Parts: sequence; structure tokens; C-alpha cells
Amino acid sequence: MAGGIPVTISILERNEFKPFIDDVTSLITEKSRVMLLNSPNNPTGTVLSFDELKVLAKIAVERDLIVISDVIYEACVATVPVSASGSYGEGYPNFPRCL
Ligand SMILES: Cc1ncc(COP(=O)(O)O)c(C=O)c1O
Repeated sequence: MAGGIPVTISILERNEFKPFIDDVTSLITEKSRVMLLNSPNNPTGTVLSFDELKVLAKIAVERDLIVISDVIYEACVATVPVSASGSYGEGYPNFPRCL
């Protein structure tokens, strides 16, 4: 990506597939320019909480990083019961169907 060298962070089930903040801070160097976030995450489905995002945002500000936030699945977060067919059903006409 524009000559950048991607540095990835492992996300583990024992941490609900969320990044360990120590991993984030320890991998940022003076060469770091961008923090790429994907929440809701594909393929784990993990959704970072607002507080977790605030922690990452604070790090990005402190380390002068541009944040690229991939929120393509934002509208797919099930906040209402999902039927087996994946339909969100009556009463949520604007809610997209996500399988
Ligand atoms: C996290 C995430 N962002 C974006 C996309 C869209 O990618 P593309 O534009 O290549 O279809 C996908 C597709 O699977 C995805 O999983």
C-alpha cells in the first residue's frame, strides 16, 4: 500500500479476537504512519467496544497515526434477534439482512 510495509497483529480467541493493547503499542515505531482497523471484523465477527476504540484512538493521536477504519460490516451488527434464515423481520424495515 503506497510502499508501506504492513505490520500485522495477531488476534487470539483467548482475547475474544481483539488486539492486545501492548501488542499495538510495542509494534508502533517512528516509521509507523497508519493504523488500520477492521471492526466489525471479518472473519471473526469481533466488534470492538466504544471504550476499546477510544483506547486505540488515543494511541493513534499520541503516535500521530492516520486511522483507516474499515467499517464495511457496521450495518451488519445484529442488535435484534436474527432468525435462522438471517432475516431481521418485521419492524426493522431499514435494517439490512446479513447472513
Ligand atoms: C473487512 C472487509 N472490508 C472490505 C471488503 C470488501 O472488499 P472488496 O472491495 O475487495 O470486495 C471485505 C470483503 O470481504 C471485507 O471483508
